[in-house]
Amino acid sequence: MKASLHIVVVAALSVSALAGCRGQTSRETPIFGIRNMYDQPKFELQEETSMFPDKRTMRPLVEGVVARSTEVDPAIALGRLEDQSGYVMEIPKDVVTRLGGPEKFAARGKERYGVYCTPCHDNTGGGNGLVKQRAVKSGATAFVPPTFHSDRLRHIPDGQLFATITNGKGNMPSYLQIPVADRWAIVGYVRALQVAAPKTEGAM
Ligand code: HEC
Repeated sequence: MKASLHIVVVAALSVSALAGCRGQTSRETPIFGIRNMYDQPKFELQEETSMFPDKRTMRPLVEGVVARSTEVDPAIALGRLEDQSGYVMEIPKDVVTRLGGPEKFAARGKERYGVYCTPCHDNTGGGNGLVKQRAVKSGATAFVPPTFHSDRLRHIPDGQLFATITNGKGNMPSYLQIPVADRWAIVGYVRALQVAAPKTEGAM
């Protein structure tokens, strides 16, 4: 009995204490733990300043600035030759090393392909994934992920495969969100599937 009375009293007191804080002004100076950190001179977001002619405190980036993580080698970043004349024929050696050598690169590619590509292109690269099957069932006949085992796709440069993942094509969305090295690992796995599968003559 006594204990529960205690609880009621404490609860009532804390409710009134809280209510006292709400919506009331006070002449007392607020209590700051570390005052000099609270009062730093700084500009708030969107604030104006007379320091710059355009008055913006949020300064635009200096021209040509890239994030430190941005890949600058066009062969790796875009799958394209330095002079922009075409695609690189082979997976840049650097990205294989980056992912820990050929074995890890291959394993990563297989795993990432399973995550990102099988829904449409299926496990073998035949182009008959669940999304495709569903599309066909619902009559969306224009949605046709091609088989990877056609002559044409066997012979396109590695850089072009990379660019397809990066930019998408037709009904295939862009997979820019996959990190660069992983995109290359997937290219490696598509090549492995092509080597493993029987050739489908004339298939699109
Ligand atoms: C949402 C379904 C979907 C997913 C997921 C998908 N694709 Fe595709 N893909 C397609 C479709 C549809 C096409 C046919 C595009 C066209 O030619 O209009 C295609 C085409 C391609 C082509 C042929 C490009 C060419 O030159 O004709 C390649 C290569 C390819 N995809 C690779 C991949 C890889 C690798 C992944 C995983 C990162 C992937 N796709 C994920 C739907 C998908």
